[in-house]
Amino acid sequence: MRSSAGSADSPVPATAPSFPPLRVDGRLGRLRHRLAEEDVDAAVISQPANVRWLTGFTGSNGTVVVLGSGETLLVTDSRYAEQAPAQLAEAGCLDEVEVVVARRAAHTAAERLGAVTRLGLEDSVAWAEQIRWSEAVDASTVPLTEAVEGLRAVKDPAELTRMQAAARIADGALAAAEPMLRPGVTEAEIQQTLDDAIRASGASGPAYETIVASGPNSALPHARPTDRKLQAGDLVVVDVGAEVDGYRSDMTRSFVLGDPDEQAAAVLEVVGRSQSAGVEAVRPGVEASEIDGACRSVIDEAGMGEAFVHGSGHGVGLDIHELPRVVSGSTAVLEPGNVLTVEPGVYFPGVGGARVEDLLVVTDHGCRQLTLYPKAPVVPLAR
Ligand code: GLY
Ligand code: MN
Ligand code: MN
Repeated sequence: MRSSAGSADSPVPATAPSFPPLRVDGRLGRLRHRLAEEDVDAAVISQPANVRWLTGFTGSNGTVVVLGSGETLLVTDSRYAEQAPAQLAEAGCLDEVEVVVARRAAHTAAERLGAVTRLGLEDSVAWAEQIRWSEAVDASTVPLTEAVEGLRAVKDPAELTRMQAAARIADGALAAAEPMLRPGVTEAEIQQTLDDAIRASGASGPAYETIVASGPNSALPHARPTDRKLQAGDLVVVDVGAEVDGYRSDMTRSFVLGDPDEQAAAVLEVVGRSQSAGVEAVRPGVEASEIDGACRSVIDEAGMGEAFVHGSGHGVGLDIHELPRVVSGSTAVLEPGNVLTVEPGVYFPGVGGARVEDLLVVTDHGCRQLTLYPKAPVVPLAR
């Protein structure tokens, strides 16, 4: 399962034979089409996941410059003089993208830009970088808001294979750690077991900082594991994902140690029902806000609406949080190939909370669940 390592310092990664190759053919053409729609005649892309998605390059310093002439540059530094062309060749775009080794991307690219009226820059560009481009190029700089991110939201089969593998690994890690859900074991010990199991399965690592939150800590949606020992009666939230060849998974299960009290039982029942309602609403053609609405209405009707303090989900891929956003007001319309989470939760500060999260891929007629760990929240104390 171990495959392209994808870290900035790794040598040129070898793709594992079990995965189809990640090819980027056609992606630059689709970006150019979008730029033309927005009257942008040249663009600069430096957000690492966008650079990787467009070219296959995984180094820590790479800037894609889309020139008005139809040419494209990847400007990087001398550390990547060998890695960059090798990765572009493997991804199938070395004939389309010229690798330029240079210390100052703006300066170098400016000489090649030609006559440009509107130069697109990503929202994530730092002030200093924006100023450098403005000084180097005689053009107005305009925001390229989510241009590449919008394209990344639809995954191809090779990307889905990796996300499926990442989800399977997280399922397996939770199976390895669930026996540790008993009084006296600390959150940090369970986190360690999850992370070790993820790495032992061939993933490059956890997809994000693994969450194990027990008792009152379970009321913190993004709690960091502590040395708190689990106690009988605790709610325990476990949020675990893996990264495989750059692609991530995301899953949460909530548990209670022993028989739940009335409030814990209600919380688990309502969150479980809300999450099922959200999953049932996922299909092509629906607005992402409808998924959020389906989750939220169950929790609202149970009188816990105030305790549902975050959105119902998000896209996942090279980044753990990407498009589409599954929140109220989101007009994104789901389409086949979108990969998103459905993850309602409720949180009562100082007391406890619960969240249930699955990763789903939108199919031609509905959706397919990638995370499959069972939802059986009550953990018997005597086992
Ligand atoms: N694990 C991060 C999230 O669910 O958003
Ligand atoms: Mn999530
Ligand atoms: Mn999560």
